[in-house]
Amino acid sequence: MSGRDLGYGPWIWPSPSTSRCKCSEWISHPDFFPVSPPKNVTFQIESVTNLPSDWTDTFTLVHQRLLMVALQVPDWPQALREIYRVIRPGGYVQLGESRPWYEEEFPDRPCTNKLVSAYRCLVRARNLDVDCAAHMQEMLEEAGFVDIHVEERAQCIGKWAGEDGIANAINHGGVLRGFKTPILEAGGYGKIASEAEYDALIEGQAKEWDDIPGLKREFYIFCARKPLWMVGSHKWAWANMYFNLYAHHVSHREYILSKLAING
Ligand SMILES: C[S@@+](CC[C@H](N)C(=O)[O-])C[C@H]1O[C@@H](n2cnc3c(N)ncnc32)[C@H](O)[C@@H]1O
Repeated sequence: MSGRDLGYGPWIWPSPSTSRCKCSEWISHPDFFPVSPPKNVTFQIESVTNLPSDWTDTFTLVHQRLLMVALQVPDWPQALREIYRVIRPGGYVQLGESRPWYEEEFPDRPCTNKLVSAYRCLVRARNLDVDCAAHMQEMLEEAGFVDIHVEERAQCIGKWAGEDGIANAINHGGVLRGFKTPILEAGGYGKIASEAEYDALIEGQAKEWDDIPGLKREFYIFCARKPLWMVGSHKWAWANMYFNLYAHHVSHREYILSKLAING
């Protein structure tokens, strides 16, 4: 099996090609941050919007996480077409993206509200698709993927939510801190006038998250499959059906009955 992790950053999502062990064993494993990566892992600088031409139909699984503030609106359909191209027929894509912050979402948390409204101005100005999770299913379909599944998990943020809440607050707070320079360089969008004001808002936001219980952010995992062949070809429609039988461990009869039920 071959896998590809796109936009890996610090490589905290281990490529499945590196090991046959269960993912759960990796979660707190120090090898998440390998000083020298395993021999069967290679790192390469490419853009997901333009992957190497010789990767066509190559990978069994492509994983990509948190490019919501990396890709512009028109980049997403292009990226998904490229991911589709490099997956081998019958292979899978797995994408992880978070629900973004929305303007005026936090009337009871004024510092968070102000930071979020400046962040919204920044992402609008840069045409970043931070709302990509909201239309990921349609984009995956348009790229040609089938069997699209989405799982949602709430991330609780703040001390009130214990150890995980503290870790999530550090993570999400770090993202808002990271927007300081581009927001101030753009003049603060009429929302934030100085670095001192930005820092004070960050301090206030951290307190709001810890002191007012209830802040959550949904995280979504999308999984989808590249069909074995193009829809419309009888030969490959059969191949697809046998793939489904195999993948879902159902009998031929059960599969046909489920299709009849779906099609009315
Ligand atoms: C928020 S980080 C996510 C890192 C990692 N995937 C994770 O979940 O921890 C966004 C990553 O996207 C990468 N990135 C930005 N534009 C990209 C592009 N066009 N193609 C591939 N990766 C890109 C950045 O280099 C950065 O590592």
